[in-house]
Amino acid sequence: MKALVVYESMFGNSRQVARAIASGLGEYAEVEVVPVADAPQAPSRDLDLVVAGGPTHAFSMSKPKTREDAVRRGAADAQTEFGLREWLKGLPDGHGARLVTFDTKVRRAPGSAAHRAAREAAAHGYVAPVRWMSFFVHDYAGPLTYGELDRAHEWGRSLGVLLARAADRAAGRTGYRAVNGTANGRPTR
Ligand SMILES: Cc1cc2nc3c(=O)[nH]c(=O)nc-3n(C[C@H](O)[C@H](O)[C@H](O)COP(=O)(O)O)c2cc1C
Repeated sequence: MKALVVYESMFGNSRQVARAIASGLGEYAEVEVVPVADAPQAPSRDLDLVVAGGPTHAFSMSKPKTREDAVRRGAADAQTEFGLREWLKGLPDGHGARLVTFDTKVRRAPGSAAHRAAREAAAHGYVAPVRWMSFFVHDYAGPLTYGELDRAHEWGRSLGVLLARAADRAAGRTGYRAVNGTANGRPTR
């Protein structure tokens, strides 16, 4: 199984989350993690899952102006023209391929880039196997709140389990193993 994790990150928090998701997912699939500027504009059709995420800015996905604001506030990534919003907008029709989104945000602030990104991906013909997910930072520059990297790893792992089950179903495997000539308490032949 193959997965691609695409991230935008101005201060580095979403990058850390993307890598933690990839490490969990990596227990089940071959995973590549790429910054959105380097992401393929047409993800390969042999991918089993694309995970895409970035920071919540002004209740939604970032825009050039909010990224400029982040740079003024000391963000390390000076890339302001192209981000998750622009990448999603340029995606070709997904024809039902799986794409799930995440964001980082301040806990009590409203709005979610991941929610908005999920709607954009759906409009491009992608299907989310689970609901989008938010991970929390203390303040605009971070750091992530306690336990968020573990939660991201576990979320990645759960995505991996989901892919493995889907692959089993596609291969006609039931998930019940025959032991000593019986399966589910019934003889196998
Ligand atoms: C211009 C700007 C606007 C923001 N607006 C919001 C917001 O509306 N809601 C929110 O929860 N966080 C908001 N934040 C905080 C970001 O979500 C936070 O900077 C981000 O999660 C850090 O991720 P990064 O290190 O990957 O850039 C904003 C940050 C910036 C710089």
